[in-house]
Amino acid sequence: MPDRKLDEQLTKYLTDIHSIEEQALAQLRRAPKISGDPEIADAFSQHLDETGRQEERVRERLGAHDASPSKLKDVAGRAGGVGMLLFAKFQPDTPGKLVAHAYSYEHMELAAYELLARVAERAEDSETAGAAREIGAEERRMAERLEGLFDRAAEASLRELDPDDLGEQLDKYLADAHAVEMQAIQLLDKAPEITDDEEISNLYKEHLEETHGHVRRVRERLDARGAKTSTLKDSGMQLGALNWGAFFKAQPDTPAKLAGFAYAFEHLEIAAYELLKRVAQRAGDTETVQMADAILAEERAVAHKLASQWDRAIESALEAQGVAA
Ligand SMILES: [Fe+2]
Ligand SMILES: [Fe+2]
Ligand SMILES: [Fe+2]
Repeated sequence: MPDRKLDEQLTKYLTDIHSIEEQALAQLRRAPKISGDPEIADAFSQHLDETGRQEERVRERLGAHDASPSKLKDVAGRAGGVGMLLFAKFQPDTPGKLVAHAYSYEHMELAAYELLARVAERAEDSETAGAAREIGAEERRMAERLEGLFDRAAEASLRELDPDDLGEQLDKYLADAHAVEMQAIQLLDKAPEITDDEEISNLYKEHLEETHGHVRRVRERLDARGAKTSTLKDSGMQLGALNWGAFFKAQPDTPAKLAGFAYAFEHLEIAAYELLKRVAQRAGDTETVQMADAILAEERAVAHKLASQWDRAIESALEAQGVAA
């Protein structure tokens, strides 16, 4: 007989995912219009249909757990799972940023379903576990589709530009990478404090060191290119206003969700460097291309390591909630 606390947690994970899907629907309705490329628009439209069905399935599972709609609304307004705070603030204004953002979001969904599946299995709710696995596979496929669209996204973002502006544009992409890295530092700096699991905590600490190195290298490239200092300040990623303090306050009980969020964030970085690399290639800046490749390898490595920690993450999160091991 699964215990009541575990069932409560399961309902919470379902509720969070429901709000993540609602947010996804809102984003996907808008995305095709600003995608700037028919193939990218197509990928979004397709996933919009899929996401509609996902939202329904999650709602069904919530119904099976007698979760009331009012409860649903509460949580959506409060936290919206892990994503709202970051993703609601992020207003993509180019096809590149749109794809980067979506790529990160799909990984957040993927992480959320990985966690949900594990909680459901522990609660012996095989229907929810099965749905989580199936939907997770759809999110993964969408993420892979987006990965295949980086070339087109970079093309579409640069299409309008005068070739003479390419260097300036490259500086902007470097500044965006810088902005994302600065946010990563804030996240990674705080993350170990709310993570009981030592292995995951060490992952954050190690990557914090690497991240300081990334910031330094990106700055060096900006300097070497003689980029204007104002470029750094008005970076298009516009992440400066992100309030991590509020984020951590809204998510006090969530070492597992934090791991999921960090995983999504690493994918935002991966997308930023994939795009940067393509712009640098077009601008003939081989040093920046090499830098992007080197940093990409580290971002991908840590994302991969995070993805191997879902079991531990959920264990320590449930323990923190007083769910018996
Ligand atoms: Fe989804
Ligand atoms: Fe999705
Ligand atoms: Fe990173």
